Amino acid sequence: MQFRFSSYGSASTAPSPVNKMMAAFATDFRDGVDINLGVGYVNEKTIPDTLLLEAINAVAANPETYRQPFNYGGPKGSPTLIQALRRFYVTHAIGDMDEATMARQDMVIGPSGATSILDALADLFAPGIVITADPMYYIYCNQLERKGFRVLTVPESPDGLAAEAVEERLQALGKAVADVAFFYVVTVNNPSGVILSNARKRALLTLAERWSAKLQRPVPIFFDQAYEWLIHDPEAEKPRSALVYDTSGLAYEIGTLSKVLAPALRVGFIMGAAGALLDAIAQKTSDVGFSAPLMNQEMAAYMLEHHIDEQLRHVNAGYREKARVIGQAVDEILGPWLEDVRGGRGGFYYYLTFRNITTDTASPFFKFLSRITGDDAVDGSAENRRPRVVYLPGDFCVHPAGASAAKGKRQLRLSYGFEDTEVIVTALEHMRDAIRYAEQVGCGSQ
Ligand SMILES: Cc1ncc(COP(=O)(O)O)c(C=O)c1O
Repeated sequence: MQFRFSSYGSASTAPSPVNKMMAAFATDFRDGVDINLGVGYVNEKTIPDTLLLEAINAVAANPETYRQPFNYGGPKGSPTLIQALRRFYVTHAIGDMDEATMARQDMVIGPSGATSILDALADLFAPGIVITADPMYYIYCNQLERKGFRVLTVPESPDGLAAEAVEERLQALGKAVADVAFFYVVTVNNPSGVILSNARKRALLTLAERWSAKLQRPVPIFFDQAYEWLIHDPEAEKPRSALVYDTSGLAYEIGTLSKVLAPALRVGFIMGAAGALLDAIAQKTSDVGFSAPLMNQEMAAYMLEHHIDEQLRHVNAGYREKARVIGQAVDEILGPWLEDVRGGRGGFYYYLTFRNITTDTASPFFKFLSRITGDDAVDGSAENRRPRVVYLPGDFCVHPAGASAAKGKRQLRLSYGFEDTEVIVTALEHMRDAIRYAEQVGCGSQ
C-alpha cells in the first residue's frame, strides 16, 4: 500500500546522496578520532556563547525595546530585527549600501534561516528552469529538483559565474528558454569558495534584465550571500550589492546570520523591491510557523546593535588564519597531485581538483579514507578502526547533466570550518596516504 504522495513527497522519501553519506557516517562518528571535513558546520569557537547569554538576558529584561519576545511574531519578521539589519547595512556600508538604496528595499525574515527563504522560492515559483553555477549549492539544487525544477548549471570561472557563459547556455536552450524561472547565484560559492566579482555580478543583473525584456515577464536573480560577510582575504575586492545598481527590481539578496553569529539562531532574510514576491514569502512564513522564533530574532537584533563589530573581527581573523595555514598545507602535502585549488579567501571551503585521482564514493581514495577497503592493514580491525576522514566528493556538487560532470569525479570540497587546524593538517596527511593507496590499486572507480 502506498501513501498518496505529491511528486515532491515521493521524491523526498529517499534521502539525497549527501544525506545518505552524512547519516551513514554520523551513526558511528568517533569524536577525537575521525575527522569531519565534510560538514558545513561553523567553527564552535566562533560562536559567541557568553554574548548570546547576555543577549537573552537583555531581551528578557527590556520589554519596551524587545516586545513580548516569548510570544508569536509577525510573518515579515521582528520590526526590531529588521531595523537593526537595515541600520547595520547602512552604518557599515555593507555592499556599499547607503540610506537611499536601503530605503528602496523591503525585507522579510524567513521562518528558519536562509534555507527557509530558498525553500519558499521553490514553492512560490511555477516549476521551470533554474540557472546556477557549476559546482552548485548541491543542497538547494537537490531540493529544487525534487520540487519539479530543472537545474541548469554553467561552469564558473575563478571570479565567478560569467554572464557570457550563461548567455550562451540560454541561447542553446532554444524554445525551452521560455521555461526559465529564475537565476540563483551564490556570491561566495558553496562548495568552491569562489568569490563573484562585482563586474560579473553587475553583468549577471544586466543579463536578467535583458532576458526579462525578451520573455516579457520578470526573471529575477537571487544572490545568496551566505558567506559574504566572511570574506577574510584582505586583498579581495569589497563586494558591492546588486541592489545598488538595480533599477528594475529584479535583484534580490538572501542573507543569514548563521555563519557570523550562530546557525542555531536560524535567522535568514531576503531583501529587494517591495511587491508580490516578498508578500508571498511573508505568507509562506505564516503558513509554516507564523514567524521565526521571536526570541531568536530579538537576540539577533541585540547582537547587531551591540556586538557585531567585535564578532565579525573575531570570526574573520579566525578563518583567515585557518585558511592561510591550511592553504599552505594543501600545497605542501597534496600539491604534486593537484590540478587546481579554489576558495580559502572567504567562507570556509577549499575546493580541490586532482589531476587523476578520483574522489567519488566508489573510488579507492574514498574507500581508504572511509576505511572500507576490506583490507585490515588499511582499515584497521573492526574493533579498532583507523581514523576516518569525511569530505564532500565533487561528484555531489556538480550537476550530473552539466559540463563539469566528469571533472567532478576528481574534485572534493574540504571544509576548514569545523575541525581545528592541526586536525585538518593530519587529515591532509591521511589524504596523501589515500592517494598513494589509490595509485597502488589503480586510481579509477572500482
Ligand atoms: C550557500 C548557502 N546558502 C544558504 C545556507 C543556509 O543558511 P541558513 O543557516 O541561514 O539556513 C547555506 C548554509 O550552509 C549555504 O551554504
